[in-house]
Amino acid sequence: MTILAIETSCDETAAAVVRNGTEILSDVVASQIDIHERFGGVVPEIASRNHTAALPKVVEQALSQSRMKWKDIDIIAVTYGAGLLGALLTGVAYAKGLSYALNKPLMAVSHVRGHIAANYTAHKNLGFPYICVLASGGHSAVLKVADYDDIEALGGTSDDAAGEAFDKVARMLGLSYPGGPAIQKLAKEGTPNIVFTKRAQSRKDYDFSFSGLKTAVVNYIANAKGDINKSDVAASFQESVVFRLTDSAVRAARDFDIKRLALCGGVGANLRLREKLEEECKKYGIETYFLPLGLCTDNAVMIAAEAYFMVQKGKAFAGPDLDASANLPF
Ligand code: KG4
Ligand code: ZN
Repeated sequence: MTILAIETSCDETAAAVVRNGTEILSDVVASQIDIHERFGGVVPEIASRNHTAALPKVVEQALSQSRMKWKDIDIIAVTYGAGLLGALLTGVAYAKGLSYALNKPLMAVSHVRGHIAANYTAHKNLGFPYICVLASGGHSAVLKVADYDDIEALGGTSDDAAGEAFDKVARMLGLSYPGGPAIQKLAKEGTPNIVFTKRAQSRKDYDFSFSGLKTAVVNYIANAKGDINKSDVAASFQESVVFRLTDSAVRAARDFDIKRLALCGGVGANLRLREKLEEECKKYGIETYFLPLGLCTDNAVMIAAEAYFMVQKGKAFAGPDLDASANLPF
């Protein structure tokens, strides 16, 4: 089964062709980062306009790189939520047009579930159940995954998503968008010697929070009146985020006696997070599964993969009335 997928939920226009859920035939991502960088974040209307302009070329490129012809494509898949409404609509409209014109079924895919499905394209031997740490710009959660479509949220953020926190703190430090890679780079030169908030957690659940940490960084910067070591602030902030995610995820794995842990979403590209997860998991005999960086951040391969497993599980195709859903629940 060969699927062509389209992803336009935020600031990446992406298309990919994937065979049988795991064989990546093409993976095209046109990033708008350069366009949004000067605004310090994604401007929704500008994102939508650029998706509209980029979509025909990106889809054509994905098809030609895959060496497939339209007749070889069995299914069109598209992200329909969650994300920026206008941005989602460009992809949904384009996919609906393709589906209608080519007379091919259309699968509507959740972006978050796509991030999770990225795991299956990279780790052919990842068995169930596993603990999935999902950390992106819009979502952060610790999940118990018992099957492709059997996903239980054990814990999540009570406020900001991890990537959102990275982006906001980066902005405070005058770093470029997106903030995650910028903070990671600066943190390498610093020491995590600033205690922004108490790290000790005696919680029994697996929830975590980033808003208090963000406020503590704001206050620290304000009180320092310009006398700060930005690298130390970046390293200390990053260490706190990494601690929160690792603590929840590893506790969950131990409590449920699950020996596999996979990491996905844009923040999953963070090298310190990978290092810390690996270190903690090793202590308890938990195997870690990390994705190539390009499959952590937004892409269409993950959408094609999720569509494939949806078909395997007998999920219904979408009709011409498919709409985008900005707040699609998990
Ligand atoms: O999954 P993603 O590409 O888009 C969403 O679904 O939100 O995640 C984007 C987020 C951004 O907040 C970005 O700053 C963060 O992932 N990110 C990182 C790194 N690379 C991207 N955060 C920390 N370290 C990184 N290396
Ligand atoms: Zn994403």
